Amino acid sequence: MLVRPALLPELPPEPKALFVREGPLVVEVGFGDGRFTAHYARTHPERLILGAEVSAASVQRALRRLKREGIGNVRLYLGKGAFALRNLVPPRSVLEVIVNFPDPWPKKRHQGRRLLQEAFFRRLSTRLAEGGRLLLTTDHEDYFAFALEEARRTGLYRIETPPPPEAHLLTKYALKWRQAGRAFFHAVFTKEAEDPTPWPPMRRYAMAHALLNGPLPEALDLPQAPVRFPGGVAVFLEAARGERGFYVLTHVEEEDLTQDLLLEVRKSAHGLYAGVSRFGTPLITEGVRAAVRALVAALEALGLQVVQDHT
Ligand SMILES: C[S@@+](CC[C@H](N)C(=O)[O-])C[C@H]1O[C@@H](n2cnc3c(N)ncnc32)[C@H](O)[C@@H]1O
Repeated sequence: MLVRPALLPELPPEPKALFVREGPLVVEVGFGDGRFTAHYARTHPERLILGAEVSAASVQRALRRLKREGIGNVRLYLGKGAFALRNLVPPRSVLEVIVNFPDPWPKKRHQGRRLLQEAFFRRLSTRLAEGGRLLLTTDHEDYFAFALEEARRTGLYRIETPPPPEAHLLTKYALKWRQAGRAFFHAVFTKEAEDPTPWPPMRRYAMAHALLNGPLPEALDLPQAPVRFPGGVAVFLEAARGERGFYVLTHVEEEDLTQDLLLEVRKSAHGLYAGVSRFGTPLITEGVRAAVRALVAALEALGLQVVQDHT
């Protein structure tokens, strides 16, 4: 089953609200086609597995696989692993985090994109239960050494490097690299202490809109430049005129969350509505509110007046 954060009554949800029952919680980051996820779920039927994956095609494939195999103890989230750890699991709740063959980003200038960095390990420690651990398997020796060093620097983990469990060598990428004759590296990072800096879940809002006085404008003149706000950026990609008003395709990037959503400007019973469209059920975050504020400012520049502000 797919997890849609905007439809959850609270962030983070109680595991029971996601999985319908209690159980030891496991998070897999970057599950790819989900064959490991399915195998793990079958061999640990008492565990509850939350998978996070940024590729929509992979999520679809994995969902089909889980359905086909009748697996009920897995939930999948389309998006970044860090978002899932921050917002979809309670603090100190996770028994195991599994990362099989993370994208290695081998070029020096791309190293900042690697998942397993010091800041990630620090934040992870706030979500792992006591004695909880992260299991890393990779074919990339340089990334392996990098991850060990980043974790070591936090002083929060005991690090061991046993041989990889056989099941972790049956993922799509493991099979590919095995055929290519590559070596495999495995590490277990066990939480020994917790970072003192809290990592609160993302704040989200019930709504983001304003009501304005005045006629629907003939045209919208929206900022071409990115709209910056603390922690992210929003871009108005395109505005289209519909029957009832304007639809504005908007891209919002915030820490660990990227959303493409529609804003709209349309007549309503109470005035001109400018705000988030329900289409796609976006998560209403600080960044989405900043985009709506920029839209409202553009309407004000056309002479319209705000009469109710929920931005
Ligand atoms: C090299 S593949 C490995 C896939 C799978 N674990 C395997 O071993 O076959 C890396 C996967 O991580 C996903 N990914 C990359 N960054 C991610 C992130 N921040 N959160 C979740 N998934 C991510 C990619 O889309 C890709 O499917």
